[in-house]
Amino acid sequence: MTTVLGINAVYHESSVALVVDGRLVSAVEEERFNRVKHAKPARVDNADELPVRAIKWSLSHHGVDVATIDAVGLSFSPALRRAAFHEDPLGREGSWGSLSGEQAFMASLEATPAAVRAALGPRFQGDIVPIPHHLCHAASAFYPSDYDDAGVLVVDGIAENACAAIFDADADGLREVDTVDYPHSLGFLWEKFSEYFGFTEYDACKSMGLAAYGDPTRFREAVGAILTVESDGRYRVDDEILRFRLPEFAPMETHFGPRRRKGEEFRQAHYDIAASLQEKTDEAMIALVRRTLDLTGRSRLCLAGGVALNCVSNTAIREAFPDLEIFIPTAPNDAGTAMGAALHLAARFAPERQAKPLLSARAYLGPSYGDIPVPSQIAADAPPAGCSFDELCADVVDLLCEGKVVGWFQGAMEFGPRALGNRSLLADPRRADMRDILNRKVKHREIFRPFAPSVLKDQAGDWFELGKDSMSYGYMLFAVKVREGQGERIPAVLHADGTARVQLVSREQNPEFCRLIEAFARRTGVPMLLNTSFNDNEPIVCSPEDALNTFRKTSIDALVLGTNLIRRSAMVEVV
Ligand SMILES: [Fe+2]
Repeated sequence: MTTVLGINAVYHESSVALVVDGRLVSAVEEERFNRVKHAKPARVDNADELPVRAIKWSLSHHGVDVATIDAVGLSFSPALRRAAFHEDPLGREGSWGSLSGEQAFMASLEATPAAVRAALGPRFQGDIVPIPHHLCHAASAFYPSDYDDAGVLVVDGIAENACAAIFDADADGLREVDTVDYPHSLGFLWEKFSEYFGFTEYDACKSMGLAAYGDPTRFREAVGAILTVESDGRYRVDDEILRFRLPEFAPMETHFGPRRRKGEEFRQAHYDIAASLQEKTDEAMIALVRRTLDLTGRSRLCLAGGVALNCVSNTAIREAFPDLEIFIPTAPNDAGTAMGAALHLAARFAPERQAKPLLSARAYLGPSYGDIPVPSQIAADAPPAGCSFDELCADVVDLLCEGKVVGWFQGAMEFGPRALGNRSLLADPRRADMRDILNRKVKHREIFRPFAPSVLKDQAGDWFELGKDSMSYGYMLFAVKVREGQGERIPAVLHADGTARVQLVSREQNPEFCRLIEAFARRTGVPMLLNTSFNDNEPIVCSPEDALNTFRKTSIDALVLGTNLIRRSAMVEVV
């Protein structure tokens, strides 16, 4: 028996994955436990700040004796970093890119193995293995896919020094065949533009939302001055304009006009800049995919890295390569590198036992709580004992059809940033006012940001232009066109550009969620629900207590905890 733990702690999105005997048994993000978005800020001095709560849960939940852990994989290679580092003239003293910042970073990287041994205790005698960051991303996409071989493309902010990498993958593992080095980073390009738009660096999805309202022609040339796509499929980012590591926007403002400060109104220019950025990113990603297929000679693609969360670019890739099989994992961001580290190490330990995870096991890898009783301090309108799941679904459909917002908490938590029907807020997609209702009651998001539909897989083709099937359609990673004439029936999930970021749901993937959508479809003729993550400007809820806390502090109308339905109108806290 082999037991391998994967840990990501280096920048942010700290996470842990556990592989036992070649089988991925869990993966979870620290933010769900410490309730800090992204778990921690990406600073030079905190690489040794481990996801200790996620480690503890992973080991205790699966009854792992630390003495039996063969190895711990860390998703970053200090040696590779040391070899690649060069001082960045556009870095800030004491921070990324400066000599003093690098010294602090190396010190915290070197302290990480000791921190792991301290966290696991003296009974842990296994190896601690640093693994190159992009290799971890690549492994997180290749091993959970169904593919025997694939070209793997990783595009993120930065690894040790590279910002994109191409791997060739087959039964013998993953081999890096190309890299694009800093400062040519599509991830950082989006971070800096997000700040230019008045968001935080983590808000690329908001910038993506803006793009749907813009005209890409107006700033095409200006964006093209920063991001250049070469004829060989590589790309360049001009950091003299971007100045990613400096809190400076003057060169960008020369090209694009004054940046938006937080709280200011959006101007049409912001929408148009975002549209050009999206268009150019699509072009760069398509070129990178072509290069990946050319260099590897493979006919299947695995995609990972934070940029793989750009569902518009993902769709552009699908449209450019209509016959290409594509797999993207549920956590293409840095959280996924813990999974990649564990799977890569496990493959090295026992390649013949490297089992493909079950479909459901690729997404729902976090804590589950079995039969959840309603806490005794709540006198809720719980269904009577013996109430069937179908009756529960019927009650929830009643609420949804009345325009209510329902918190839906079931089974094991999703791994990755999207709620896929186990930690979700659900609503009726047919109501034009539902976006406003959701934002008023709980989400408090910018009005230009779309909500997504979860659709019965076997009926999705009637509503959306899907093209070739992909397992990743279950993960809300593609923005697809809504079919002519169907958009007006589902205004709450229709984006300004006529697309929707679909999740296709099947009984194989998530039987409970599927049954609920089926009940809604029987009642309304519409085989989908609006599905957004169960949170209110916080990490997605993890435990029933988190769900109850968010239920209490927002105006969600009802909460389903397992088989219990708690209606706000009937909820009385018994002190
Ligand atoms: Fe990364």
